[in-house]
Amino acid sequence: MQVLREDWPYPRWVAHRGAGKLAPENTLAAFRLGAQHGFRMFECDVKLSADGVPFLMHDSTLTRTTNAASALGSGQSMIGGDHAWSELARLDAGSWHSRGFAGEPLPSFENIARFCLQNGYFLNVEIKPTPGLEGPTGQAVAHQAAWLWKDASTPPLLSSFQPEALAGARSAQPHLPRALLLDSLWDGWLEVATGLSCVAIVCNHALWDVGVVSQTKRAGLRALSYTVNDAWAAQRLIDLQTDGIITDRVDLFSPLI
Ligand code: G3P
Ligand code: MG
Repeated sequence: MQVLREDWPYPRWVAHRGAGKLAPENTLAAFRLGAQHGFRMFECDVKLSADGVPFLMHDSTLTRTTNAASALGSGQSMIGGDHAWSELARLDAGSWHSRGFAGEPLPSFENIARFCLQNGYFLNVEIKPTPGLEGPTGQAVAHQAAWLWKDASTPPLLSSFQPEALAGARSAQPHLPRALLLDSLWDGWLEVATGLSCVAIVCNHALWDVGVVSQTKRAGLRALSYTVNDAWAAQRLIDLQTDGIITDRVDLFSPLI
């Protein structure tokens, strides 16, 4: 049983890409493994197929995490967003990791959403657009999230490094919570986040300090971190009174809250 903190419905601990590196990232197998380790909230990366189906994948290209190079044949684009969902759904997204996961399919966002909803798990959806499709990806992901979570009490948290993607999500479904992802504290980050009515900043964990946390909280935003894989780093973030920790190390941390 998770203890949820007042006015912030999400658990502190979030399993990165399902189960970090212990299973093929962004697959249902990873989510199942993360859940077996006690995690109740997950982060995943979502982009659009050529025919507009949101699916899970981190990279723009298919080469690192699928068998596309051999399965699609020579001369085919390796950009995930260039292919229809019917082609992507046939790829093996597990063999690259290890033989035990051979044949693991790429999941659609709907597949993963239904797994989370059936089990009462929380989700952080990182909108990871194919370059050039930031706005439409934000819109499509938000529309599908709103439809899938229409009867749920806690919506998914939508995050992105791209303000254009968050603007797309806001224009489509303004009530869904949004978070700005930061890998550096670029000029105007807080104004952009508040201008997009974000509820949180999800920051490279090394960038948080007392001043940045206090600036964020004063603006009414929650402070979350990625990707935290050491106990000392996690303790530093807890001591800073930040709100969420995204980790690969589902085998190291016990998500009590
Ligand atoms: O959403 C947090 C984290 O996943 C951002 O970085 O590159 O692992 O998607 P990345
Ligand atoms: Mg991510």
